[in-house]
Amino acid sequence: MTTTASVDTTIRLIDAGTEQGSTCSADLAAGPWAFDLLAPGYGPGASMHDVVPPAAPRQGELPVEYREADADELDARIRAAKDALGERVVILGHFYQRDEVVAYADYVGDSFQLANAARARTEAEAIVFCGVHFMAETADLLSRPEQAVILPNLAAGCSMADMANIDQVEECWEQLLELYGTEPDADGRVPVIPVTYMNSSAALKGFCGRNGGIVCTSSNAETVLEWAFAHGQRVLFFPDQHLGRNTAKAMGVPLEAMPTWNPNEPLGGNDEASLADARVVLWHGFCSVHKRFTVAQIEQARAQYPGVRVIVHPECPMPVVDAADSYGSTDYITKAIAAAPDGSTFAVGTEINLVQRLAAQYPQHTIFCLDPVVCPCSTMYRIHPGYLAWVLESLVAGEVPNRITVSADVAAPARLALERMLDAKPPAQRGA
Ligand code: 13P
Ligand code: SF4
Repeated sequence: MTTTASVDTTIRLIDAGTEQGSTCSADLAAGPWAFDLLAPGYGPGASMHDVVPPAAPRQGELPVEYREADADELDARIRAAKDALGERVVILGHFYQRDEVVAYADYVGDSFQLANAARARTEAEAIVFCGVHFMAETADLLSRPEQAVILPNLAAGCSMADMANIDQVEECWEQLLELYGTEPDADGRVPVIPVTYMNSSAALKGFCGRNGGIVCTSSNAETVLEWAFAHGQRVLFFPDQHLGRNTAKAMGVPLEAMPTWNPNEPLGGNDEASLADARVVLWHGFCSVHKRFTVAQIEQARAQYPGVRVIVHPECPMPVVDAADSYGSTDYITKAIAAAPDGSTFAVGTEINLVQRLAAQYPQHTIFCLDPVVCPCSTMYRIHPGYLAWVLESLVAGEVPNRITVSADVAAPARLALERMLDAKPPAQRGA
């Protein structure tokens, strides 16, 4: 599949039989509103088979005028609403959003950059966050209290974030403290520091804030783990085992010192001895988008394109990261491709919307997704221009739909954990 059309267009062409290729679900060609009133589910795409927690937010029915509007009408309505709102609204878009939504974003970036953008755009009354739920929560935490953060489709969650909930993490923490105690060592380091990936609920960020912990993103995970090891003897890392394992391994932590914690088993499925020797306890969570990438795909790419550079996201399983030429956050991937000499070939292991956009943006290179099956992130894909038009026009009419608000008791400690992350500096910048 080498097309440089948008993912949405590609899906439609494959569905119509006018383009070769395959998608992971025939339902991808339907409007996301087709899934809003069904039983809770992430929708078609990479995480469609993951289990949705019963309390996951549900999107109500999108008004029919938006469901039935064609692309040109939605484009005209979005532009008119944006013009009418002017500086009162800022639209943020994650790299994994479909092109048809990215087209309207005032700022496009990775989750770290978007958190900073939310903090910086203090003049806007409303921040429309085209991304997923935990990102909108983070924007609410970092923006001014008067600013409304709006998620155009409430069903845009994240199955990985949902793999760790606050009750499970509290239960795990209790067991670990029973084992490790709470006394600092001679260097003042506490027995264990909780580190949550940005891809987690505000409740888990709040847990970290309350317990001396910190947040990380895929672009600063190593800096944050260094911070954690300076403050603690070991780390409890959640919810993404792969980001935790790949990062700690690159820092020299042996695999034997990284047991996985399965929340459904006593002691997470470990014995006391292996937990006592642990440096990083890895929560058993994963991203279903990045789990699709395999070493066999990398071997296939190398056989087909000698000289190809394989670059993957650290949410990929460790054997895939090990077999790649390099790995990093979506921002890292974007910058690596921008800096490459003309005529480079890249096989990329991250979400297809970003890969296809990069392929269109850099026609001087050959850029393709490692996974030949078109399978976007289910929840990112729930945001469609129809929902964007609806929330913008609602704002013009003086209504504030789909506002994401973190309760004050959770917000204060969650902000603390985020501020610790924003203050943690990579080694080269220390003292600056
Ligand atoms: P980054 O934007 O931090 O690279 O994360 C990727 C991702 O999976 C977001 O959900
Ligand atoms: Fe969550 Fe993975 Fe989608 Fe990111 S790409 S929002 S981690 S499911």
